[in-house]
Amino acid sequence: MRKFLVAGNWKMHGSRASVAALVEGLLEQGTMPCQTLICPPVIFFDQLQRQLVGSSIGLGAQNLDWHDSGAYTGEVSAAMVLEFGCSHVLVGHSERRSLFGESDAQVGLKVEKCLSSGLTPVICIGESLAQRQADETFAVVQRQLDAVIRQVGVTALRHSIIAYEPVWAIGTGESATPEQAERVHAQIRQYLAKQDESLSQNIQLLYGGSVNGENAADLFAQENIDGALVGGASLKVDDFLRICRAAV
Ligand code: PGA
Repeated sequence: MRKFLVAGNWKMHGSRASVAALVEGLLEQGTMPCQTLICPPVIFFDQLQRQLVGSSIGLGAQNLDWHDSGAYTGEVSAAMVLEFGCSHVLVGHSERRSLFGESDAQVGLKVEKCLSSGLTPVICIGESLAQRQADETFAVVQRQLDAVIRQVGVTALRHSIIAYEPVWAIGTGESATPEQAERVHAQIRQYLAKQDESLSQNIQLLYGGSVNGENAADLFAQENIDGALVGGASLKVDDFLRICRAAV
């Protein structure tokens, strides 16, 4: 039986004060209703690691470099995030791919580094609007998945999470409908089943793209949606809690 996971991607938002208030608001409501992860900018890790002591909320990074150390200005290593209690890493988010030129091959290297370091990668995949309109949705998703599988092998995905995030739904307020999302999730699961049946049954497939307190329950009612990767709504205590409550 797969568990629901709700992960908040805070992107490049927050200040010492605002992140403290946000987490305080989440902690005030007691035990989280589902497996919950927050992915703040890494500069807040130290502060948040202390604030989260004793709570069930996990800490994730938004990105990672695949090298162990060295002359990689601006980058952060697996060992560094592990030192601050990080358990998960978003890999290949569409903003990393489109704004920072991250390639499928680099995403594969990052997933490999997460897995060899004991971090769980949340592998983000999804098509642009033009690709959807050209009927290429699954071809794109498959290409992105295959790049990871080529690098680490399909079995390694047992320790990974996949987030299907159609690019046209991210930050636009226009979520995929539950049916649109479910269709791709089911295709992903079927595709994985051809390679490893038990992996396909157990892997958590998150949906991301304008998930909010209003639409979460309908998305989570779909057979192959096991939670959400939430951007904008994860910065609002009430909205984020509403999404978490829908995931039970
Ligand atoms: P959004 O972002 O919820 O603001 O659409 C999702 C994401 O980028 O992961």
